[in-house]
Amino acid sequence: VIGSVYNRSEIKENCKMLNPDILIISEGISGKELIPEIVVDLSKQCPNTRVVFLTGSIDFTKEDRRTYFTIMVFAGVYDIIHEDRITDQKILHVLDNPAKKEDVKYLIEKPKSKGSGDFVFVKDHKDDVIEKDYHDNLFTISSIKPGTGKSFISTNIATMIAEYGVKKHNGQRPRVALIEADLQNLSLGTLLQIEDDKYNLKTVMDKIQSIISSDGKVTNDIEKIEMVNKHIKSSFRPYMYCNNLYALVGSQLTLQELENVNAMHYLYLVETITNDYDVVIVDTNSSLTHVTTFPLLNLSKYCYYILNLDFNNIRNNSRYRSFLEKIQIADKVKYILNENITKKMMDNLYIGSEELLFDTEMIKKDFDLVAEIPLIPKTIFLNRIYSGKPISLENSPQTLEARYEIAKIANEIWPVSNFENLKKEFESKNKETKKFFWKK
Ligand SMILES: Nc1ncnc2c1ncn2[C@@H]1O[C@H](COP(=O)(O)OP(=O)(O)OP(=O)(O)O)[C@@H](O)[C@H]1O
Ligand SMILES: [Mg+2]
Repeated sequence: VIGSVYNRSEIKENCKMLNPDILIISEGISGKELIPEIVVDLSKQCPNTRVVFLTGSIDFTKEDRRTYFTIMVFAGVYDIIHEDRITDQKILHVLDNPAKKEDVKYLIEKPKSKGSGDFVFVKDHKDDVIEKDYHDNLFTISSIKPGTGKSFISTNIATMIAEYGVKKHNGQRPRVALIEADLQNLSLGTLLQIEDDKYNLKTVMDKIQSIISSDGKVTNDIEKIEMVNKHIKSSFRPYMYCNNLYALVGSQLTLQELENVNAMHYLYLVETITNDYDVVIVDTNSSLTHVTTFPLLNLSKYCYYILNLDFNNIRNNSRYRSFLEKIQIADKVKYILNENITKKMMDNLYIGSEELLFDTEMIKKDFDLVAEIPLIPKTIFLNRIYSGKPISLENSPQTLEARYEIAKIANEIWPVSNFENLKKEFESKNKETKKFFWKK
């Protein structure tokens, strides 16, 4: 034994210093921090440390701490012993026989929906089979650097799918939800001109907090749960230009209010509404602690990471990739290049400017790009913000290339009917300009 601590606040620091092979955490350790959050940080800081977690027995019928365990399992903690009496032999056995992710899948089983899709926790020991641990219709837009275009891209993908998404078998258009995970800035609300004092991310988080305790236990009060779920569902406000797009937008939260929001609250939110929509897009906040974003990434089908031409940002993304591998989400991460400066733009716009030394071709050597969204003239960008209408909904030639690139992403999520048209239009416009330059 190379060290021991008696308070949660000392775990991270000591692990960093001692870099242990194994860390045994008992839930009884005092301290205010949430253990799942500590474990997430550790998975990044000390990726080689194996965590063994000891806790009391879990009564699956009465209390549920699914979110709590989901975060731990996603952070790579599979050795979870939950028994009232934990003997030395039991611990030795676990130490000798490390568990695998499959062994703890039963802890993170998805809640089964009841009728209207209300959130109810059911544990049925008979069907322990889970095919996948993500939602087919959940997609996150993320980046490791703030201000790279997450909100711009997520609103455009969402409006593109809402407006042009092919109809379902029943003839209806897809129902699209857009969730803002930014608790401090008003962003999506401004972009879509949605504002509601009563129904917004803050009131939703307040309500969720009122039913989940700090250790992830959900109240037994079914009536209260139903009321909260109703509030959550009503907080998705329709967008004026597409009535099949609903957005849950932020409102300004103070830092103090933010302190109490944790990953579990987001998980609860996502679980409560994903069944109500065909597509759910989450605009994550890269400046918030990793912990809030982390479980969302795990529950998503694809996580789109936004890159730009900044060499420093690309290098950081390369480094970050090994972490994404460790937490087993690298396979579903897809990269989008935003604010791309193409050769054509250099020729046309920046006469007299320098050749770009670090360009798209170099990025493509290391990253598979699903789309390359061009840099849009500032005036156009600002005007769209002011009008509350994303470029996906327009047909101006100046934004054609950007719309085509956005359609590429949208089409991967839900087939969009305008994709082929945009492609043809873009390709023919490209040919025309080539001819024009040729003649010159
Ligand atoms: N394709 C683009 N063309 C031109 N400007 C762009 C483009 N994408 C983003 N921008 C610029 O970057 C700014 C930030 O975009 P946005 O707010 O979408 O980023 P974000 O990643 O959501 O930021 P935050 O991390 O603050 O939430 C925009 O206001 C705009 O000036
Ligand atoms: Mg944003």
